[in-house]
Amino acid sequence: MQNISDQQKICVIGLGYVGLPLFVLAAQNNYSVLGIDLDKDKIDNLKYGKSYNQEISDYDIQTFLTKDFVTISTDYSGLSSCDVIVVCVPTPLSAKGKPDYSLLSRAVDEIALRLRQGQLVIIESTVAPGTTKNLVLSRLQAGGLSVGTDFFLSYSPERIDPGNKSYKLNNIPKLAAGATHICRLLAQNFYSSLGLTVIPVPSLAVAEMAKLLENTYRDVNIALVNEMAQICHANNINIWDVINAAATKPFGFHAFYPGVGVGGHCVPIDSVYFTHWAWEKGTSAKLCELARKINTEMPSYITNIIINTLAASNKILRGSKILILGVSYKKDTNDVRESSALKLITQLQMEGAQVSFHDPMVESIEINSTILHRVTPDSNFISQQDCVVLALAHSAYNLSGIYSASTSIIDLTNAMADYPENRLTRL
Ligand SMILES: NC(=O)c1ccc[n+]([C@@H]2O[C@H](COP(=O)([O-])OP(=O)(O)OC[C@H]3O[C@@H](n4cnc5c(N)ncnc54)[C@H](O)[C@@H]3O)[C@@H](O)[C@H]2O)c1
Repeated sequence: MQNISDQQKICVIGLGYVGLPLFVLAAQNNYSVLGIDLDKDKIDNLKYGKSYNQEISDYDIQTFLTKDFVTISTDYSGLSSCDVIVVCVPTPLSAKGKPDYSLLSRAVDEIALRLRQGQLVIIESTVAPGTTKNLVLSRLQAGGLSVGTDFFLSYSPERIDPGNKSYKLNNIPKLAAGATHICRLLAQNFYSSLGLTVIPVPSLAVAEMAKLLENTYRDVNIALVNEMAQICHANNINIWDVINAAATKPFGFHAFYPGVGVGGHCVPIDSVYFTHWAWEKGTSAKLCELARKINTEMPSYITNIIINTLAASNKILRGSKILILGVSYKKDTNDVRESSALKLITQLQMEGAQVSFHDPMVESIEINSTILHRVTPDSNFISQQDCVVLALAHSAYNLSGIYSASTSIIDLTNAMADYPENRLTRL
């Protein structure tokens, strides 16, 4: 068995939200690192010392780029010289809403072409149980090398939470499983050498399933509070007060909060990975499917709140000016993937509203193949709106200024909890 040492060369495939922080961490630990991404724009940005990831500063990039042991490329040819290969490519949904492993398959095929004795391959992308064994291992072994003796294979799901100020890559425990015992030990050694706390997990399938449990758990619990929010709203009970009261229980309760829906590349997608996998195995994940439905329908529910709010001022949605504040999938991130705010905007436009948006971290969004640029929400612009919807209370927002300038505002975040009721509608 080989040991991981800082003489070794690490390759990170896929330099996105997950891969770039890992790539930087490996370089900071003086590993020789190769970063591969198919997106030429990302590679060019990095080469010019520009970060596209809010967790990594330009300074971080510029500092390690000057070192001769750091390489970034769109080309896989340097792979054979690497000792540890970590795969962080997206595992999205297809146009038909099913798990799409094409990017992962493509990355694994590139590795398989160059696989050599002694290499450790680690998959970090989120996958359904059995994928590392059935999709990855079978392709890697096709060339005749055997896992556990010739090369090594591990699954270690990434658990980062972009925008989380307390927990970053360096202080989130890392699960590590292996195709064999030695594979797992090597993965443990690797992550430990980066200063991470590693939790060994008994099998690949357990590690794969644990990641799906973590994110499906969030989807289901958010659906629960979204459903309660709707019922409380209809009965004049403030859901935020309810959650705050329940959260005083020191055990057995974890607070989740309602909102425009669940977004990002993880929670809504991983939940589908789980339900689809269960369905393939001949079972149905009824609770998770229902949770997905409740969360997916939140933009329609919010649209109805907007309609009722406008009606109170004798206005109708068609033709009304609606400003949406905060369009990323959660507070203080710039990621708009699967963002429910985009679905809300789409729905409002379909109903004939004149919709504009602002987000301090997002300059433009694409709605129905049309690019929408953010507006400048000065008090003059805000005062001309029939309704302002605070979808996310980004830290950069001057909430009292927004409140004062608006004639009607819907707060989906409870950030305006202490503001006077007039002109304010709460979720
Ligand atoms: N974003 C998160 O917060 C998060 C958290 C935990 C786990 N994950 C999981 O990690 C994986 C990666 O997610 P992400 O958010 O970093 O995605 P991302 O889209 O931000 O980054 C992935 C990168 O991989 C590149 N890429 C795609 N196919 C490639 C290939 N075949 N070869 C080389 N590069 C390729 C893309 O150009 C992109 O830059 C997914 O499976 C996701 O579910 C994401």
